[in-house]
Amino acid sequence: MRHFLRDDDVTPAEQAEILTLAAELKAAPFSRRPLEGPRGVGVIFEKNSTRTRFSFELGVAQLGGHAVVVDGRDTQLGREETLGDTGHVLSRYVDAIVWRTFEQSRLDEMAATATVPLVNALSNEFHPCQVMADLLTLRENLGDLHGRTLTFLGDGANNMAHSLLLGGVTAGMNVTIAAPPGFEPTDWVVEAAHKRAAETGARITVTNDPRAAATGADALATDTWTSMGQEGDGRDRVGPFRPYQVNTELLRLAQPGAVVLHCLPAHRGEEITDEVLDGPQSVVWDEAENRLHAQKALLVWLLAQR
Ligand code: CP
Ligand code: NVA
Repeated sequence: MRHFLRDDDVTPAEQAEILTLAAELKAAPFSRRPLEGPRGVGVIFEKNSTRTRFSFELGVAQLGGHAVVVDGRDTQLGREETLGDTGHVLSRYVDAIVWRTFEQSRLDEMAATATVPLVNALSNEFHPCQVMADLLTLRENLGDLHGRTLTFLGDGANNMAHSLLLGGVTAGMNVTIAAPPGFEPTDWVVEAAHKRAAETGARITVTNDPRAAATGADALATDTWTSMGQEGDGRDRVGPFRPYQVNTELLRLAQPGAVVLHCLPAHRGEEITDEVLDGPQSVVWDEAENRLHAQKALLVWLLAQR
């Protein structure tokens, strides 16, 4: 039995297998029914969501199952039932648990008692389901990802930067993170990424220079400068980030055929301009759609590991 809590919870070969399955499911959405019954999947949100909520609820239905989608505050988690007890109990009802929460340590705590696969639907530290969709989108546009360059610009210490780094090097991509001083990726994540990169031959660059980072990249990715839960953290999350905005000028430095990723929701005019988000190099709507296909593949794969 396997959990999917961070991007390096799957090996490079397993990640590739899930991405290939995702492409198959995209071509034939109703071809796999591992949850026929219906068997249940628990989907719990402790933060807002549009894409993750729709894609998991529909994805589970398309796999023949039934998703019980709840706001964490409405469950007894909101009244301090322990994560461990919740893991025990939910495992008696459902075949998988999908959870959007705060600290990664909360996922680790529930994983210790869950006897069904637990999937991270976004934590403060990682957003690995999003990155599976991003890698599927990159495969569709770039083909083989080995040796291609993915540059993230923005808050290098947020969940998307961390997951693109860890998931990107797992796919064999050279990953560059460009962030303002003080917003670089967290050391232990960079260490984990180096470990993974040693297996795949990927290169890692962390820089404060957005123009150097964008130059020659095959893909540019960005994300909000203020993640959910950071609204009141007292840090200036606009001024230092302005040079890292993904705009036409920065995009011109990338490869001519480079694509632009954004997990969404976008803060138009902050981390990305309308011109780029709505422009011909943006693949953000495919990326959002690919959440559905990538997550279905992930669930099919996880259910088959038991
Ligand atoms: N990208 C993403 O996870 O979107 P939601 O917050 O809308 O689920
Ligand atoms: N970094 C963002 C991603 C939203 C999908 C956040 O955590 O709010």
